[in-house]
Amino acid sequence: MAKPKPFKTPVLILKEGSSRSRGRDAWRANTTAARIVAEAVKSALGPKGMDKMLVNSLGDITVTSDGRTILDEMDVEHPAAKMMVEVAKTQDEEVGDGTSTTVIVAGELLGKAEGLINKNVHPVVIVEGYNKAASKALETLEKIAIPVKPTEKEFLKKVAVTSMASKLVSENKEQLAEIAVEAVLHVAQKVGDEYRTDLDDIMVEKKPGESVTETKFIEGLVLDKEVVHSGMPKRVEKAKIALLESALEVKKTEFDAKINVNHLGQMESFLREEEKMLKEMVEKIVATGGNVVICQKGIDDMAQHFLARKGMLAVQRANKPDMEKLAKATGGKVVTNLDDLTEKDLGYAELVEERKIGDDKMTFIEGCKNPRSTAILIRGGTEGIVDEAERSIHDALCVARDVVQEPKILAGGGSPEMEIARALRDHAESLPGREQLAVQSFAEAIETVPSTLGENAGLDPIDILSELRSRHEKGEKWAGVDVFKGKINDMKELEVYDPLAVKKQAIKSATEAATMILRIDDVITAGKMQAPPTPHGGPRKMPSAGYGGMPPPEH
Ligand SMILES: Nc1ncnc2c1ncn2[C@@H]1O[C@H](COP(=O)(O)OP(=O)(O)OP(=O)(O)O)[C@@H](O)[C@H]1O
Ligand SMILES: [Mg+2]
Repeated sequence: MAKPKPFKTPVLILKEGSSRSRGRDAWRANTTAARIVAEAVKSALGPKGMDKMLVNSLGDITVTSDGRTILDEMDVEHPAAKMMVEVAKTQDEEVGDGTSTTVIVAGELLGKAEGLINKNVHPVVIVEGYNKAASKALETLEKIAIPVKPTEKEFLKKVAVTSMASKLVSENKEQLAEIAVEAVLHVAQKVGDEYRTDLDDIMVEKKPGESVTETKFIEGLVLDKEVVHSGMPKRVEKAKIALLESALEVKKTEFDAKINVNHLGQMESFLREEEKMLKEMVEKIVATGGNVVICQKGIDDMAQHFLARKGMLAVQRANKPDMEKLAKATGGKVVTNLDDLTEKDLGYAELVEERKIGDDKMTFIEGCKNPRSTAILIRGGTEGIVDEAERSIHDALCVARDVVQEPKILAGGGSPEMEIARALRDHAESLPGREQLAVQSFAEAIETVPSTLGENAGLDPIDILSELRSRHEKGEKWAGVDVFKGKINDMKELEVYDPLAVKKQAIKSATEAATMILRIDDVITAGKMQAPPTPHGGPRKMPSAGYGGMPPPEH
């Protein structure tokens, strides 16, 4: 058979502008990008970690040491770097804390893998070794975890304090931890032998002003809205609350309408008709027995006036999630059509009151039908501090919830990581050749947690690791980095505790991210889409949506 003739012209498979990298080049590029991301959060780990100032394209400034926030705000471009950002997101959504740890460990796992690849260990073998190491690590954590009582405030508070030790608001960690734990216990529900906690039941509102010490736990809800009319009562006891989704206004036509008025009387009767309609709307609410109205949309001035005359308290433009929370808390129903409103749809609260908070007014709904409804009102000197306090309280709420749901804790300061490394080194001996190398690399990678904690506290990472290794060999399983004294100490005695759930998820997420990136040996990047140039050289316009992203047809 005749041999096929070689092609004279190159065969183009990819579109113009696409790029492709394969094999080692692809690994190297991905690993480098992911490690740079990990490097960026490294200095923020632990109580002695530094904060980062991030300025977005609009010039907004965020100062934080929260791993997820740093990565979110960094707005990275490289696909492997984006995967790391996703990992931090997953960690945050699953357990709410440990995002920095996860990203740092994932970066280190990739760094160690690069060393192995250079020694000709195939990535598939590394992936297998890493997976085995991860399951051994999880087993070790389960083994050393300390069981606690799910509703015991003492441990929940210690866990919450640890999670806030590394934040900007750490000075107020005791008080904020107390608030977070109280809120979580308030919404915890027993289901069978376990407790379930839905953090959506906790409303978190923030208002710049005063100081973080003025942050309060509220048994009820709080809306960042004021009572709409000065003639309305500012306080209603035994409130029966109508929750309306539609506006208390006369509907406007969707098209421009013209009304020809020939004499003044017609104009007056037109206005009177509008007034009558608004009055009827208010009458409908009054007829159900309601004395408070919370409206998701606007309330017409005239309707406000009628409501005030009836002695009702009204709030307008509450946002949708708040409406849902209000319905859950007060046992009411959000009604779309006012005609459907009945007495049964009204929610109940002991007290609805407008209070002055700083320069603004907020509406408090307390003593709700559902006793579990809870809110936290965060205060702080500036908007930046209030935002960071919110992120810290989020972490504290999450870790307290994690322990309520899975009542096991670990001492922190890198001590569980050292135990994992020790167990892995023992385990590695039982494995064949190259996999053994991968498991040992995993052990070294996980040790980056204590060494980074130490490094951030100004200690020498090599000294720290060698002392920690020898003390763990001797059976001191809670020996970790005491970042405040600058030496190795028993973390259990120092009462630095992290939830087991956070550490387990960190191992899982970090391993998944690293192995996913390691498996990629081909990166194909499509060329960037560009808007077509305009015929007259004028400013470029994006293609209109009507053509499904295609350039508009030529006329
Ligand atoms: N007083 C302390 N002494 C030593 N280590 C501590 C102390 N308090 C907390 N840590 C440790 O600091 C680490 C947590 O640091 P940090 O909160 O900065 O990062 P993260 O929880 O991994 O991520 P993030 O909070 O940004 O989501 C944990 O390993 C924890 O055990
Ligand atoms: Mg943390």
